[in-house]
Amino acid sequence: MQHPLPKLQQIPPTAVSVGDYEGLARERVSASAWAFLSGGATDEWTARENIAAYQRLTLRTRVLEDLSGGNTAVEIFGQRFAAPILLAPVAYHRLFHPDGELGTVLAAAAMQTGVVVSTQATTLIEDVARQAKTPLWFQLYVQADRDLTAALVRRAEAAGYTALVVTVDAPVTGIRNREQRAGFALPSDLEAVNLRGMRVPSMQAVDNGQLLLGGPLLASAMTWRDVAWLRSLTRLPLLAKGIMTAEDAQRAVAEGFDGIIVSNHGGRTLDTQPATIDVLAETVAAVGDRVPVLCDGGVRRGSDVFKALALGAKAVLIGRPYVYGLAAAGAAGVAHVIRILRAELEVTMALCGCKDLNAIDTARIRHAP
Ligand code: FNR
Repeated sequence: MQHPLPKLQQIPPTAVSVGDYEGLARERVSASAWAFLSGGATDEWTARENIAAYQRLTLRTRVLEDLSGGNTAVEIFGQRFAAPILLAPVAYHRLFHPDGELGTVLAAAAMQTGVVVSTQATTLIEDVARQAKTPLWFQLYVQADRDLTAALVRRAEAAGYTALVVTVDAPVTGIRNREQRAGFALPSDLEAVNLRGMRVPSMQAVDNGQLLLGGPLLASAMTWRDVAWLRSLTRLPLLAKGIMTAEDAQRAVAEGFDGIIVSNHGGRTLDTQPATIDVLAETVAAVGDRVPVLCDGGVRRGSDVFKALALGAKAVLIGRPYVYGLAAAGAAGVAHVIRILRAELEVTMALCGCKDLNAIDTARIRHAP
């Protein structure tokens, strides 16, 4: 089906930060969709800590460096992005705006950045690809039915996606009390269209009162044994999303992953995990230069992007921030959120004496006492 190009909305005149977009989004989506978007697992400590940990890192400014001829461009797997800020996979974009994933990729193209499209997108893999003028990566949840999973991978590759992001930290959905209290359920006119026809066992095993350990859900979950099989299915670079320890980072590289995303799923799966920025350095040290390490969770300012790069990330991904933009103003809102973060990153780089990303190193930050 050919979708019409989303119509551009006005940028809200009062929005100058991600926090402003958060406020606008909250006003525009239903209370239960808001609980789904903004909530985290159980007490939401990790979701808050992802943000707070960035604020404990301070910047070491450097003056009078030559800043001529700088830029924020980054290359990952030979793919070039205007800034090291990619859009993380987020389910069900049409829950937040009628343009859904098409609005998101339109904005990403305008800002020359990449998008990771969720397995649980509300737009077909092929329709998103037709609209995209920027590298698209496909996020894969390995399904209980491995043949149908293989079909998804082949569809993504055939449609021109340029990397496969395998989410490894959510064999079961986290317990999100805020969603439970709000009675969140996907509206009947929305579905994960790419999984149509698949028998998808509910990942909400806890809500259903099923026994988890020893039950069918975890028996069919992806394991390290599946990595070689995934590798055999596709020539695309494979990234493992959801790595939080040096041990798993090393294992992921040894098993054949081409990249790592340090992520705790935005604090949505298991509460009291540490902030991602606090485990980034150990992960980078574990894999060295062998594969690119990316990081997501809690990025709300361009200075956060700078701090993640200083600790060794090749790029960051943002989740909630761009969805706030989408909810508030469709594609224009997404593009503006990326623009705001990039402007903040550029000011941070200039005032810390870095004219390009290569100049950003650990000497530019300090841990606050
Ligand atoms: C997510 N995330 C996610 N991750 C994934 O691999 N597949 C998915 O379908 C989703 N869906 C999803 C929905 C919503 C509403 C949110 C907020 C997040 C996690 C996402 O990719 C990313 O790891 C976090 O959002 C990063 O944290 P911030 O930027 O939201 O703080």
